[in-house]
Amino acid sequence: MIDKFIFDPDSGDSCESCAGQILETARAFEKFYVLSTAVEYEIFDALLKPKTSSELADARGFHRDMTDKLCRAMTSMDLLTKNGDKYTLTDLSNKFLISTAPYYQGDLIKLLKKTREERWSKLGDALKNGPIEIPRDNAVFDRSFILAMGEAAICGSLQRTMKVLREYEDFIKAKRVLDLGGGHGLYSIAFTRLNPNSDVVVFDLPQVIEGVTKEIVSVHNGKIELAQGDLTKDGIGSGYDVVFVSDVLYRPEASLVPILEKINKSLNDGGLLISKHYHLDDVSADQTALFFDLMFSISGGVNLVHPSDKFCDFIEAGGFSVVHVEDIGGPSKVIIAKKVIK
Ligand SMILES: C[S@@+](CC[C@H](N)C(=O)[O-])C[C@H]1O[C@@H](n2cnc3c(N)ncnc32)[C@H](O)[C@@H]1O
Repeated sequence: MIDKFIFDPDSGDSCESCAGQILETARAFEKFYVLSTAVEYEIFDALLKPKTSSELADARGFHRDMTDKLCRAMTSMDLLTKNGDKYTLTDLSNKFLISTAPYYQGDLIKLLKKTREERWSKLGDALKNGPIEIPRDNAVFDRSFILAMGEAAICGSLQRTMKVLREYEDFIKAKRVLDLGGGHGLYSIAFTRLNPNSDVVVFDLPQVIEGVTKEIVSVHNGKIELAQGDLTKDGIGSGYDVVFVSDVLYRPEASLVPILEKINKSLNDGGLLISKHYHLDDVSADQTALFFDLMFSISGGVNLVHPSDKFCDFIEAGGFSVVHVEDIGGPSKVIIAKKVIK
C-alpha cells in the first residue's frame, strides 16, 4: 500500500491539490497574526517614511531580529515592499492600513482578533460542554467596535445599500429618517447626501453617541440630530417617514418582534422600515452568515441570525407588509417594509 502512495505520481498530484485547500485555511491563521500584530503595533504608520528593519525596531523599541523577520513576512504578503535596504508601504497598505487613510481597516482587524481570542478559541470547549458564558451587555459597543463597524461599512456595504435606496422614491421623498443603532453615523451622512431636505436622526446608546457618533457626524455634517437611549427600554422618537436599521436586530424572535412593533409605532402612516442584516440563506454562495451565527452560538447566542423569509415573517408580525427584498451581495439583504395602516 505504501508503494502506491510513494510511486504513483497521479495520487500525489490529486492529494496535493486537495490538501492545499485545507492547508491554505490552516495557514490563514499565521497571516492573520502577522497582519493584526503589525496593525496593533502601528508598523504601517511608522513606515510612512521608509526605514530599515533596524531603524524601525529602534524607533519603536522592538527587538531587532524579530522586527526583521516580521518585515520579511509582511513583504511576502504584499503589505510591505523593500527598496534597497529600506521597507516601505505598498498600495494595499497605504490604502487600508494607515490610521489616517479614509479606508482604514485597523479597528476591524483588532475586533476580529479580539473575537477570535475571546470566542473562536473556545469553540472546542463549547463543542464538548455547550456554549460558554460570556456576559452579553452593551459594554461590547465601545469606541473601537463602533469604528470597526464604520470601517466595514465604508468598504462596500454602505455603497451597495445606497445603490438600492437611491432608486426608491419613498426613501428619496422622506422628510424625517431614523438611523436606529446608527453607531458611526456614516449611513446617516450618506442619507443627507442622497436627500439633502431630510432630517436625519441617529439613535444609539449614550456611550456610543457621546464617545463616537458626535465626533464623526460633526466632522461630516452638523445637520444630523443625535438621540441617545437603549432601544429595548427607551422611546425612539416618533413622526418618522423611514426607520433604517442595519446590523442591529440579531435577536431571538421573542425580543425582536417587540422592537419591530416599537419601530412601527414610531413611523408615520405608510412609513417605511428599511432593514439591512446578514441572513442565513444560500450559505453555499457565501459562508459569512454561517460563521457569524456560529460565533454567536459559541457564547450562547442561539437563533440570533435568521433566514430572510423568517425575518420577513417577524417584520410582518410587527405590523408591516414587506414590499421589497434585495440581495446586496455577501450575506446581507435589504428588506423594505411598509407600515400597515389599521
Ligand atoms: C453592529 S453595530 C451596527 C452599526 C451600524 N448600524 C452599521 O450597520 O454599521 C450595532 C449598533 O447597534 C447599537 N445598539 C446595540 N444595542 C443597542 C441598544 N440596546 N440600544 C441602542 N443602540 C444599540 C450599537 O451601539 C451599535 O452602534
